[in-house]
Amino acid sequence: MILNASGCLDARATPEVARQLDAFVTKTVTLLPREGNASVRIAETDVGMLNSIGLANPGIDRFCETLPPLRKELAIPIWVSVGGFCADDYAKLCTTLDGCDEVEAIELNVSCPNVAAPAEATEEIVKAARHATSKPLYAKLSPAVPDMSALALSAARAGADGLSLVNTARGLALDARTLRPVLSTESGGLSGPALRPIALAAVHACFAATRLPIVAMGGIETGRHALEFIAAGACACALGTILFADPNAPARVRTELAAEAGQHGFETPLAAFGAGHGQRAAQSARFVA
Ligand SMILES: Cc1cc2nc3c(=O)[nH]c(=O)nc-3n(C[C@H](O)[C@H](O)[C@H](O)COP(=O)(O)O)c2cc1C
Repeated sequence: MILNASGCLDARATPEVARQLDAFVTKTVTLLPREGNASVRIAETDVGMLNSIGLANPGIDRFCETLPPLRKELAIPIWVSVGGFCADDYAKLCTTLDGCDEVEAIELNVSCPNVAAPAEATEEIVKAARHATSKPLYAKLSPAVPDMSALALSAARAGADGLSLVNTARGLALDARTLRPVLSTESGGLSGPALRPIALAAVHACFAATRLPIVAMGGIETGRHALEFIAAGACACALGTILFADPNAPARVRTELAAEAGQHGFETPLAAFGAGHGQRAAQSARFVA
């Protein structure tokens, strides 16, 4: 399964790109509208991209009005990413989305580095969301924690159906001339190639700890990268930063992945599932519905 990473694809502006995906993941939506951070909000580095968008979004009420036409136009499942500042925010968002037929699954963004991140509250947030909806819940975790497995286990205990791994990690870019921070917020979230080994380690550790379905993201640019994430324990891959450079990436990565799996002797890409853990891992696999 190939998805986009939240915030990296505007499906209304480029529906033809979104239609290449197996499901579209929305940008994180909050209870109230947010303008986001002041410009400059994007910076390039030689190993990836820094962003400090600050969860700019129209708020849940306006967002829900746009869901039916979007679902109709894309004709693929829609996963909605939600964010908040306390467990009650997430509960309210999930209650609203629980009543929307257009919503296939909900991703709980408990990991955005550009707003006050409620890292310690993951278990409380997932629990509150779990009580509010029967839709599949994916907890999106930050890689910037000392023990990813422990965080993943707390999400699992609280009732998460799956994990989205990983969000960006904090980074800084200085202007070449002034040596001052490029972003208005000084530091921002690092995505792209530099994040890939970190994301791979997170997927490997969290799969071993929980056996939950995992949507992997973090610097995935090619079929070879996707195959490695599947071997580490992901059952779906999401494309983020690469979409800015290559809008055709979903179709390209899908083709490359099939070829790459074949070269390794696997009949299908998912036959490589869990290969990075030895043979028995695949037998305890649970896949994204
Ligand atoms: C411009 C930009 C905006 C993003 N917005 C969100 C967001 O709204 N919610 C979220 O959970 N993650 C957001 N992310 C993080 C991505 O979904 C993804 O986790 C991260 O970029 C790692 O994947 P990548 O290296 O393939 O980009 C954003 C990333 C970028 C680059």
